[in-house]
Amino acid sequence: MTVGIFDSGLGGLTVLDAVHKRLPDLPLVYFADSAHAPYGVRDADDIYNLTTAAVQRMWDEGCDLVILACNTASAAALRRMQESWIPSDKRVLGVFVPLIEALTERQWGDNSPPREVAVKHVALFATPATVASRAFQRELAFRAIGVDVEAQACGGVVDAIEDGDMILAEALVRSHVDALKRKMPHPQAAILGCTHYPLMQDAFQAALGGDVSVYSQANLVAESLADYLDRHSGMMGKGTDSMFLTTGKPDKVSNSATQFLRRKIDFTAA
Ligand code: DGL
Repeated sequence: MTVGIFDSGLGGLTVLDAVHKRLPDLPLVYFADSAHAPYGVRDADDIYNLTTAAVQRMWDEGCDLVILACNTASAAALRRMQESWIPSDKRVLGVFVPLIEALTERQWGDNSPPREVAVKHVALFATPATVASRAFQRELAFRAIGVDVEAQACGGVVDAIEDGDMILAEALVRSHVDALKRKMPHPQAAILGCTHYPLMQDAFQAALGGDVSVYSQANLVAESLADYLDRHSGMMGKGTDSMFLTTGKPDKVSNSATQFLRRKIDFTAA
């Protein structure tokens, strides 16, 4: 049994780490499409083609269920994949659902009319492609009323993290938070709508101030996956081994991953 976790690069490791802590015996196949990161500046067709190629590779490793631990792919490609590409015996889940469930305090399958929720002013930090898709606002509007969402496209942050330049990443986070605050001076909550951003969570929290609740996806997705596998144990897949695959340079990606997760991670070429 094995579950796939996909990201354009290193960001999905934040999700992998939380899943590994929640379900320590579950083998995981991680795929980092590092040669093509960042996805956030690509168009929807390009993101669809790259994401389906990566997911196909994970099917080949025995995964029946793949988590797109990438908001950009979830926003730009997932719906099209579900409509016409995914075979009936496979599943691909995105990372928006658990986040919106947490923010709106209701289950995804709850189709009752949208209602008021506790937070009224929400800052969304995400990649340019995720912000342009407006997928987050659309899903939220089905479930909640009276929530003002101000989105900030955080250009450059994913590139800096992938390059291991955390000083640049931190400076960019500060400048994107400043830009957001010029549009929405007092957000109550901030959503880190890119799985790379939890690696910069302290920088976001410091720039936003201690009174802003920062939502990030890793634990929410891990909890939601545990619940899903409880209900659909047949989706655990046929593979038995954990592995880390990358389209980038395995040595470089392994070094960065080992640094981020503080345990030895060995990527091999996809
Ligand atoms: N971690 C991806 C996300 O959650 C980053 C996308 C990118 O490569 O720009 O959106």
